[in-house]
Amino acid sequence: MVKIRPVAPGSITCAEIPPTPCVMVIFGASGDLATRKLIPAIAQLHLRGLLDEGFCLVGCGRTSLSTEAFRERVRTILAASPCGQANGWLEMLLSRTFHVTGRYEDRAFYDRLKSLLVDLDCRYRLNKNVVLYLALPPGLYPIVASGLASSGLVCPDAGTAWDAKLVLEKPFGMDLATARQLNSQLSRCIPESRIYRIDHYLGKETVQNILVLRFANSIFEPLWNNRYIDHIQITMAEQVGVGQRGRYYDQAGALRDMVQGHLLGVLALVAMDEPEAFDPEAIRDQITRLLEAIRPFSTDDLQAIAVRAQYGPGTIEGQQVCGYRQEEHISPDSQTETYVALKLFVDHPRWQGVPFYLRTGKRLAAKDSHVAICFKPVAQSFFRKAGLQIPQNILLLRLQPDEGISVSFQAKLPGSKLCLGTLQMAFNYQDLTDRPLPDAYQRLLLDCMHADQTLFTRYDSVEVSWQKLEPILAGFSQGRPPLCTYPAGTSGPPEADQMIQQDGRHWLQLTATVNEKLAT
Ligand code: BG6
Repeated sequence: MVKIRPVAPGSITCAEIPPTPCVMVIFGASGDLATRKLIPAIAQLHLRGLLDEGFCLVGCGRTSLSTEAFRERVRTILAASPCGQANGWLEMLLSRTFHVTGRYEDRAFYDRLKSLLVDLDCRYRLNKNVVLYLALPPGLYPIVASGLASSGLVCPDAGTAWDAKLVLEKPFGMDLATARQLNSQLSRCIPESRIYRIDHYLGKETVQNILVLRFANSIFEPLWNNRYIDHIQITMAEQVGVGQRGRYYDQAGALRDMVQGHLLGVLALVAMDEPEAFDPEAIRDQITRLLEAIRPFSTDDLQAIAVRAQYGPGTIEGQQVCGYRQEEHISPDSQTETYVALKLFVDHPRWQGVPFYLRTGKRLAAKDSHVAICFKPVAQSFFRKAGLQIPQNILLLRLQPDEGISVSFQAKLPGSKLCLGTLQMAFNYQDLTDRPLPDAYQRLLLDCMHADQTLFTRYDSVEVSWQKLEPILAGFSQGRPPLCTYPAGTSGPPEADQMIQQDGRHWLQLTATVNEKLAT
């Protein structure tokens, strides 16, 4: 393997913006998301010097909790982190941490929250910069948005003094109709320019790097088309099962849970045209345009272009695990898919004739998310005439784990006159830093504080992606294609292999090393 190292420190072009004063309000502050992701991400931002000294934290929720009790909770969450050891900052954060208890339907709750925010803004000069993070079940989004509007913290037009950002987690609807309904309910309370829909995949370093790789290098973009690319694979494979989320997942399934947001989001970044500027709206325009260009699916074609499957019992890393239907809160005759593979085309001259193969699943053999750009084999070459087989070049964007980029290329091996071998050039993200790579939530929270919507999903791309998936959702609900099964711990159903093999291609193996993947 040929390793790629960063060149001199002077070669680094960095556009991090200095910290800005802000108060972050977490609705659902005693929940899992706040505990596991949001509060630790705040501490990490501090450690990286990206959190303003005046930062304040407000927890909100139905759970009756005093400010003192919430402070203890935050202390416990951060006890194990380096911030917990270096007491000074933690004590300062705790002195600026508050809790407001109330029912989300109750207008007085929002008035209490607002008077606290007015007070904090006055005391700590926060410039009315408030991030309102809804770590709540989606059914509550319209209720909380309307409560916030009633208090004047947000407003459907520009008429409020507060620089508020409303942050939402997916699901953004369960189909086109419900997504539209949610968008219209929100738009009655707050303008789109203040809504931050999180797709945490877009916060991953490696996913953001797709834009840099493509548009900050002149060597890739000229090849980024149907003249040189044979096909593209996008894989998001997980080893975990549905865990505690059975109630939600059994209603959603892999298509809604992973394909609608994460896979189509990554597809858009991989395939879109260059935006006119490094500007949130220009980038989001291109994302929507690309999604619109996905060739419409037809329910009648699903047999050939879609595979849906569910995991049965199996073995993961030597441990017996149960099948999906035996998981908690899952119906014993559930028809929900935990695996989807899709083949699609993008109707754009750049991608004419280039298939995109997408797959995602739970309880697979390995956690492995990657994009494989598979180039066409060398067409005319004297090596071929000499009877040598020349494998195709693959550019592998390793999204997680083992984040980085690898490219396979042919080289002459030393010794005999004409002996070719596949080599790998690799760039590993971890080589760039001694610390663990920043978690997606750190990036996304920071962007909310700075009012940068680039990595957040706009209403129109949510609607377009649902619209594209409607025929598939309809097919799945009618049992088309039939639900297949795969044992937990395997690479998925054989039907997904057959789908791609019919085109004379094959998936990169999930359990293979990077070298093995590139050599295939
Ligand atoms: C979430 C899905 O959006 O992404 C989960 O709801 C999934 O089902 C998760 O497990 C995967 O994210 P990551 O970052 O672990 O790959």
